[in-house]
Amino acid sequence: MFDVYEIRKQFPVLGRLINGKPNTFLDTGASAQKPQCVIDKMLKVYSEDYANVHRGSYLLSEEITLEYEKARKIVQKFINTKSDKEIVFTRNATESINLVAAAWGRKFLKKGDEILISEAEHHANLIPWQQVRDETGCTLKIFKIADDGSFIWDEFAKLLREKTKLVAVTAMSNVLGTIFPIKKMAQAAHNVGALFLTDACQFAVHHQIDVQDMDCDFLAFSGHKTYGPSGIGVLYGKYDILEKMPPYQCGGDMVDHVSYEKTTFAEPPARFEAGTPAIVQAIGLGEALNFMMNLGMDNITAHEKELTKYATEKLSEIEDLVQIGTAKDKGGVFSFVLKSVHPQDMAFILDKEGVALRIGHHCAEPLVHRMGYESVARATLGLYNTKEDIDRLVKAIEKAKTFF
Ligand code: ALA
Repeated sequence: MFDVYEIRKQFPVLGRLINGKPNTFLDTGASAQKPQCVIDKMLKVYSEDYANVHRGSYLLSEEITLEYEKARKIVQKFINTKSDKEIVFTRNATESINLVAAAWGRKFLKKGDEILISEAEHHANLIPWQQVRDETGCTLKIFKIADDGSFIWDEFAKLLREKTKLVAVTAMSNVLGTIFPIKKMAQAAHNVGALFLTDACQFAVHHQIDVQDMDCDFLAFSGHKTYGPSGIGVLYGKYDILEKMPPYQCGGDMVDHVSYEKTTFAEPPARFEAGTPAIVQAIGLGEALNFMMNLGMDNITAHEKELTKYATEKLSEIEDLVQIGTAKDKGGVFSFVLKSVHPQDMAFILDKEGVALRIGHHCAEPLVHRMGYESVARATLGLYNTKEDIDRLVKAIEKAKTFF
């Protein structure tokens, strides 16, 4: 049973008053709040169990190495990989995508090859490919989305061809909430011989991920959005592809043998985890993913779906408010503008009412411009949000309107 009011009690910060008002946190898309179990776990590791991993021949180091590798196995379960060797711990999803761009892109792409992305990408899934394009001479193609933010199969399919070597798309837009048909897209990419990468940062917050069913070659997500700590991210890669990739960074713990003359590298995932990793963050992420799985991914999705419907209805009742991103297949991301109030002014007033949301271009500047705006307000849902949060958001927006 998914009781959101009980679940909220596990997130201490939600009990804090903000400017004397209830904490109406609607910025999970930027970073999620943390449940007590994650905080406790990390505190315990730092207080009682801390040492470096993969290096020590003493009890603390052996124990924490097991914990760190246990976290990898939890990620394996969370996204259903064939092997835990297909999970690389990174700093965040941005680093995960940069890793693929630097290690796979630079090695395997050349002039005449094409990378295909969508108009709806976060900078983290655009700029690395621009860099690879500039370094290798390959071409970056961008397929169009609809004015309401919907995915259009024909726009995608018409740019997908033999020359396409990689399709890299968001699973759920961080601005529009649009959910892309990842499984079908991966299949189409494979049909022309391309690899398929998905940025699942927003999708992972609300949906069950099964990389084997999706059949993606790479998948990235961030720990801090899935109720874990910041400083930890995940790159999933099919093992046979990771195996062919050179290291991304070089240093300790990613080698087989080193001499002054040359170095041989470790197998994945160690090959891609140079230096001391984010040990406690990885363990905290494991705890967060277990927390989500214990609540039930289906329950989390159902809750998001119900709130998305409620929020869409309530926001559409506000005169003067334009919702940006109204695709049929969308999740709990609500970008909007008020005709009469600048997003910056609105955010200021909303903050005084205890409502936290993000304004700006949301690290997707070309997308926000493509939708016709310089800056938009964005409310995003987490598993702890309630209909009362949406009501408070609506009330605060109405209040903001009275000032202008
Ligand atoms: N990528 C995060 C967002 O969309 C930070 O806000």
